[in-house]
Amino acid sequence: MNMTTRLRCDRTPAWSALQEAYRTHGMAFDARAAFASDASRFGALSQHAPHVFADLSKNRLDLATEKLLMDLARQSGVEAHREAMFAGEAINNTEQRAVMHWLLRNPPLDPVNIARSAIKNVAKELLDVHSILDSMLAYAQTVRADATITDVVNIGIGGSDLGPQMAVVALDEFVIPGKRFHFVSNVDGHELAATLKRVKPESTLFLIASKTFTTIETMTNAASAKAWFAANGGTDIARHFAALTTNVAAANAFGITTTFGFWDWVGGRYSLWSAIGLPLAIAIGEQGFREFLAGAHEMDEHFRTAPLESNLPVRLGLLDVWYRNFHGFSSRSIAPYHSALRRLPAYLQQLEMESNGKQVDATGEALPFGTSPVLWGEPGTNGQHAYFQMLHQGTDVVPVEFVAVKKPRHSLTGHHTLLLANVLAQAQALMLGKADAGGHKNFPGNRPSTFLLLDDLTPTSLGALIALQEHRLFVSGSLWGINSFDQWGVELGKVLAKDVEARLNSGNSSGLDGSTAGLLSYMRT
Ligand code: F6P
Repeated sequence: MNMTTRLRCDRTPAWSALQEAYRTHGMAFDARAAFASDASRFGALSQHAPHVFADLSKNRLDLATEKLLMDLARQSGVEAHREAMFAGEAINNTEQRAVMHWLLRNPPLDPVNIARSAIKNVAKELLDVHSILDSMLAYAQTVRADATITDVVNIGIGGSDLGPQMAVVALDEFVIPGKRFHFVSNVDGHELAATLKRVKPESTLFLIASKTFTTIETMTNAASAKAWFAANGGTDIARHFAALTTNVAAANAFGITTTFGFWDWVGGRYSLWSAIGLPLAIAIGEQGFREFLAGAHEMDEHFRTAPLESNLPVRLGLLDVWYRNFHGFSSRSIAPYHSALRRLPAYLQQLEMESNGKQVDATGEALPFGTSPVLWGEPGTNGQHAYFQMLHQGTDVVPVEFVAVKKPRHSLTGHHTLLLANVLAQAQALMLGKADAGGHKNFPGNRPSTFLLLDDLTPTSLGALIALQEHRLFVSGSLWGINSFDQWGVELGKVLAKDVEARLNSGNSSGLDGSTAGLLSYMRT
């Protein structure tokens, strides 16, 4: 798809119609009044998608506005853009790369029907995907069966850390007993040093996870781990180190021969489904990992084929645009009411903010409107005793996204009902508010929230939930006309860090700004 065939959302007729709709009733929209006047509101603004039930009805949204948002999506060409992604076109235009993390979850094609398949033009890539998936899962099974390996240490950062870490924590109930999983990401040596204190060379498997195999944090940690291994009597690198990377040559040059590859068409923050998922595969096993992929694939199919009006990623992405660009809300709070989902906010921060935190469109033109909201949050009920005060009574309106799970996997009487009561009560309180003449006890209400409900937290449902989030930000990014798949914004800091590192060693602060020079000199004394 040619970038110029996309129409940026602010250049469509629907954009002006939405501006008008915002002025006439969007701005003053009150969800309480909307429920009072429309008995069908919950039914109309909630839906099932694979493994996720979503309730959008507590938002500042009605069907008339949603219809205009659907016009906006159609006029912006989001469907063609989505098809371009699923056709393997190079929609990451600044790097000339296809965007095919979804292919990592696609089952193999039936050899007889390849010609009729919607994805026949990426059949060769799919064969490669399954060949590496099979060998990586066979390796995972071997590690699982090896009782002498008790600790798996993943060394990676960003997408090479957040995804596997979030998922291993989320699926704790499915993790093989007898093995511990550690994640070292930070270049801060405290993190690696603390982990190395807890493991032994003869019983540890180090996974060096880096798409590029050049990231300074990961390379520094990997080199120190390798040196520690040798210094503590480790000899068999082939057995105790494996690399997960697109740059197998660099991994070999580093001295690692056990490698699992992937491809440049998998963005780092979308790479959990690739070899980067190996820690998860070891943790939950081949079958669990295949279920994780299958859950995500079901969501892919939903996104690819469901009519826009009942397409959950589309509805959520459009709501995000409505809030960001019309209501002017600049953040979204993620509130997972499940302690195993405690890394979800951090994972979603990278996923959405690195994807959509852009100030120019895909052609490089400056955008006249806001893009990625700030995502943040903590698990409930903890957040209630911290920042929910601000959500209820602060001066800013922050849409909240609740994630809850119906079925507990423990047998502690009463806890889960109390947890679910709390998540429902918070969503209710945000919307209903409470009038009080005294002011301090006044809750304005009409504070928007979306509610995502899973039946059970399993590999399948987690896969679907994550794919849902990937596609919803595809939709908002597509409307905004941006390239959601590059991340040039992380480059400048990397370059400057190299320069400052040399200056910290030498003490040379000439040419630096006054603040950096002053701090540098304090650090050296
Ligand atoms: O932070 C920038 C980034 O490029 C992320 O996009 C990526 O997930 C992370 O660095 C790690 O990169 P790599 O997997 O190549 O080490």
